Amino acid sequence: LQAAGLKTELIETAGPPLVYAETAPVPGKPVALVYGHYDVQPPEPLELWKTPPFEPTERDGNLYARGATDDKGQVLTHVHSVAAWIASGQPLPMQVKFVIEGEEEVGSEQFADYLARPEAAEKLACDVVVISDSSQYAKGQPAITYGLRGIAYFELHFKGPKQDLHSGSFGGAVNNPAIALSKFLTKMIDEDGHIQLPGFYDAVQPLQPEERANWAGLNFSDEDFAKELGVDALLGETGYTTLERRWGRPSFDIHGLWSGYQGEGGKTIVPAQAAAKISFRLVPNQTPAEVAQQLAQFVAENTPPGIRIEVIDLHGGPGVVVNPQSPFIAAAQKAVTGAFGKPAVLIREGGSIPIVSSMVERLGADVLLLGWGLSDDGAHSPNEKFNIADYYLGIRASAHLWQHLATVAK
Ligand code: BES
Ligand code: MN
Ligand code: MN
Repeated sequence: LQAAGLKTELIETAGPPLVYAETAPVPGKPVALVYGHYDVQPPEPLELWKTPPFEPTERDGNLYARGATDDKGQVLTHVHSVAAWIASGQPLPMQVKFVIEGEEEVGSEQFADYLARPEAAEKLACDVVVISDSSQYAKGQPAITYGLRGIAYFELHFKGPKQDLHSGSFGGAVNNPAIALSKFLTKMIDEDGHIQLPGFYDAVQPLQPEERANWAGLNFSDEDFAKELGVDALLGETGYTTLERRWGRPSFDIHGLWSGYQGEGGKTIVPAQAAAKISFRLVPNQTPAEVAQQLAQFVAENTPPGIRIEVIDLHGGPGVVVNPQSPFIAAAQKAVTGAFGKPAVLIREGGSIPIVSSMVERLGADVLLLGWGLSDDGAHSPNEKFNIADYYLGIRASAHLWQHLATVAK
C-alpha cells in the first residue's frame, strides 16, 4: 500500500494492529472503505498439505497457501486495482480507504474496541464498505452477496469425578462425563434438524416467498454438491432446500470433541472430564447474546447428576442482510459484468464476518460483499487455494468498481 503511494498507518491495539491506508480525498464523491483480514485459521493438520501452508505455491492455475482465498489473496485484488489506477496517472474517481484487521477469525475483538473509539468514526468515515471475503456462486458465475449468517461460538466443559477412575472398579457407579456430554449434545438438535435451545427460533426472520423463489431459480444441484463434498446424502432442517439451509436458516455444529484417552490401544477409565467446541449459525434478527442466554437456560435444565457444566463464551457476531436494491449493488453489478463478461447473481452466504454489522451501524454505511473465491477453495481446510484467473478477474472488477461507485449520489 505504501509502495502504491497511499498514506498508510499501523493502528496499534491491545492485540494485532490494524493496517490502515487511504488515497487522496475526492470532494463531492462517495468514499469506499475496503475491509479485509490478514489473520487466518490454524493450518493443521499439516501432514495433509501437499506444499507448506505458508509458502504460496503455484499449481494447476491455482495459488496454494493458508489465506490464499481467506482472505489475503482477495484483499490484494483491491490493493492492486488501486495501485494500477494510481500508476496510470489518471486520478482515482473517488477516495478509497483500507482497513485490514488481524482478528476476524476469532471474533474481531480489537477492531470492535477501535470502532468504539471517538476518532474511528472520522478516520473510517465512508459511504460503502467493500469486502471481498466470500465466493462466486460457481466457477464462471460471479455473485454479489447480500447476506451473511451470524455465529455464536462456545466451549462446553463437563466435569465429573475429581480424577480419571478405573472403569472396572467404578464404571456403572458414577456418571461418565463423555456419556453425559454425548447425551447432552444429542438433545440439542432433533431429528428434523430443529435446535432445541428454549426460544431459539423466536427471533428468526422467516424466509420470504420471493427470496425462496429466487434461490430456487439458481439451479442448485444437490447431487453435484454431495459429490463435491464426498458424501452420499445431504442432511439438514426438514422443509428447506440446501441453499435455504445454508444461507437463510440457523444451524448447529460440533467443531471439536474430546475426552478420555486418545492414544494407541485401550485404556479402561471413566474420564474425569469431557469437552466440546460448538457453534450456532444465526440469521437476522438473532443475536449471539440472546443465544448465550438460551444456552445457559438449556444447560441449567439439562445438567445431569454428578456433572458440573462450564460454558465458555468464545466469540460471535450477528448476521447481516443488506438491501439488494441499493445503488451501490447496481454499481457493483456493472463493475462485475465489465470484468467477468456476465452479470453477477444475487446470493446470501452461510459464513460469518462478525464485525460487519457493527461497521454498518457505526459508520452508517452500506456494505458490498464481492467474493472472488470458489466454493472448493478449501477455506479453513488443508490445501487452501485461490484460482489465479479469478484473482486477475477480481483485480479487474475492482478497477471498474471505483469508476462505477463514484457515480452513486452521495
Ligand atoms: N471469509 C469467512 C466468512 C465467509 C465464509 C463468508 C464463507 C462467506 C462465505 C471468514 O473469514 C470466516 O471464516 N469467518 C468465521 C468467523 C468465526 C470464526 C467467528 C466463520 O464464518 O466461521
Ligand atoms: Mn475471511
Ligand atoms: Mn475464514
